[in-house]
Amino acid sequence: MASENAHIPELSQLRTRHSSKWRRHGHDVLPMHVAEMDFEVAPGIRETLLKMITESDLGYLGPIPEVGEAFSKYAANKWQWHVDPNQIKLATDVGVAAVEIFRALVKPGDKIMVNSPVYTNFWSWIPEVQAEILDVPLDRARGWRLDLDAIDKAFASGVKVLLLCNPQNPTGTVHTRAELTALAASARKHGAVVISDEIHAPLTFAENEFVPFLNCGEDAEKVGICVTSSSKSWNTAGLKAAIVVTKSDEMLHLVAKLPEAMHWRASLLGAFAMAESFDGSADWIDQAMATLDENRHHLLAELAAKLPNVKTHLPEATYLAWLDVSAMNLGDYPAVKILDKARVALVPGTDFGPQYGQFVRFNFATSKENITAAIDRISCL
Ligand SMILES: Cc1ncc(COP(=O)(O)O)c(C=O)c1O
Repeated sequence: MASENAHIPELSQLRTRHSSKWRRHGHDVLPMHVAEMDFEVAPGIRETLLKMITESDLGYLGPIPEVGEAFSKYAANKWQWHVDPNQIKLATDVGVAAVEIFRALVKPGDKIMVNSPVYTNFWSWIPEVQAEILDVPLDRARGWRLDLDAIDKAFASGVKVLLLCNPQNPTGTVHTRAELTALAASARKHGAVVISDEIHAPLTFAENEFVPFLNCGEDAEKVGICVTSSSKSWNTAGLKAAIVVTKSDEMLHLVAKLPEAMHWRASLLGAFAMAESFDGSADWIDQAMATLDENRHHLLAELAAKLPNVKTHLPEATYLAWLDVSAMNLGDYPAVKILDKARVALVPGTDFGPQYGQFVRFNFATSKENITAAIDRISCL
């Protein structure tokens, strides 16, 4: 059944999609794993893409000032963050952008810091440049917040790059201005660079304030580079386009050294879908957030009623819930057991850090019926 807000196709229709979420498992599995939304794409994006396809406008990506202008407008309206469109550079995707920035900053054997639990691919991007991962975990006791003292010690020990996730996938933590300002001061004191992955930013729930790292004063501007895309929030990950944003001459200079190919390897359709997302379809996200807000409460209510042993919290952002299933006694590989026996696909906690074996990540960007069905299946274990 359709949601009152964002429109969600029936499950039988969703199962005809070609994306990873719908192809990785058989039709008896409810896929609640990959971070894709089941919502129909924004009408403005559909029209932009249809027009380009209809007019056979499918060549290589050339100059595209539309993206810088659209992001700059969105950031100013949404976050009172003023970005010079000339400091916005196109990239193939966020992963490629992060890896190319690493290449400019580190040599093999250097350490790059992450704060677990954190997005699966942070663990694979860093080895791509033969760097080592230094994990300074979020502090669970304080509600999965950054451990600023431990981060400062890591910078003091010589770690020169932090790959920050803001908002955090999978905990949904939105780092506060005070945290980010302190982080920036610490990074500047120790001569480190902070790469802030802000791909989940537009998915921040209304009661929380998303603060762009680069909007936290001079220290942040001097040490920070933002990598982001509209692809997560407007659900166009298959289209391949992202941006790198800087605020200071120092960081602009660094980013200028990145390979030009990062731009040309992005997709024409992805780049124009991004320009449309941040401009003409900027309001679409409000509708999506209304549905996601209902869904996060629905999921927590379902868990409380049917799986009261599972520990979780209301995410401040994103459509991902981070569940501690240790009290369910599902053995060493809970996500495998849930997939095998309950036919629900979740992401195993170990994808976000080796110590999270008793956690799973649940994607609630679907209909309430699908959420209920998944919890019903798991509660039969
Ligand atoms: C924090 C984070 N960064 C980046 C990505 C992926 O971005 P891209 O496909 O542009 O590499 C994801 C996808 O879920 C993510 O959660």
